[in-house]
Amino acid sequence: MKKMPKQVESSPMKDVDDWENDLLNRYPDPDAPNKEKDEFRNYIDSDRVEGVKQFYKLNHTYQTYDFVCEKEKEFLKFDKRKMSLWDAVNYLNTLVDDSDPDIELDQLQHLLQTSEAIRADGHPDWFVLTGFIHDIGKVLCLFGEPQWAVVGDTFPVGCAYSDKIVYPEFFKENPDYTNERFNHKFGIYEPHCGLENVKMSWGHDEYLYQIMKDHLPEPALYIIRYHSFYAQHKEGAYAHLMNEKDHEMFEWVKKFNPYDLYSKAPVSPDAEALKPYYQGLVSKYLPETLHF
Ligand SMILES: [Fe+2]
Ligand SMILES: [Fe+2]
Repeated sequence: MKKMPKQVESSPMKDVDDWENDLLNRYPDPDAPNKEKDEFRNYIDSDRVEGVKQFYKLNHTYQTYDFVCEKEKEFLKFDKRKMSLWDAVNYLNTLVDDSDPDIELDQLQHLLQTSEAIRADGHPDWFVLTGFIHDIGKVLCLFGEPQWAVVGDTFPVGCAYSDKIVYPEFFKENPDYTNERFNHKFGIYEPHCGLENVKMSWGHDEYLYQIMKDHLPEPALYIIRYHSFYAQHKEGAYAHLMNEKDHEMFEWVKKFNPYDLYSKAPVSPDAEALKPYYQGLVSKYLPETLHF
């Protein structure tokens, strides 16, 4: 196995959200092309672009099948911390970027902007709740995990890496790229075996899905588990592994994506005023204590 990078090299982005901001460059809002471009120009400087690139280099080099198995062993014991959902939100919110405080929205604001945009469109309450919690798996950062094992586009491991994944050339450094067990179209999987049987690269999506899997309706779980799987929900690169139910459920993942990407308004939602509504929603679906 490849040697892990040193801590300092493992966090090339100034802020974990540089990845999400960079997504706006790859997938600009079709309804507001000029607005997005202007905001983006103000935000992403060449240093940040380079940071995102280095981040993907690490992500694609080290996210191997064995790495995912190791992380599952480590984190799916859920022995790190017991928290209510609200405590988890507050805990996540300690992950602030101090490099650019005027432009940055904190984590709570991104969650509330996503969920409030879903609510404003009259969607069911579980969908609003999904928007509110979808990134809470990023607490992995606070457990000392490197950026490349928390955020970034996700993709299946155990089979060939699609060239539709961002920066596909970086997979050449990944040991699975030359491993004959894994490096063909289906790898260890059967055609249309269903994503349930497919291991995804490790990050905040899979982690939160595993915490939430007994508590939310199926479309909510698909959204949480696959919201960073851009190679499929935007590019359709892994249909050969999906079954009918996956395709049906991905309609929800696609419906969710614009709320995640394009709800970043410069105005902060009033978290205090919204708190009672979200507390009600959280207690309707989730147990008082969650195990992280
Ligand atoms: Fe996310
Ligand atoms: Fe998000």
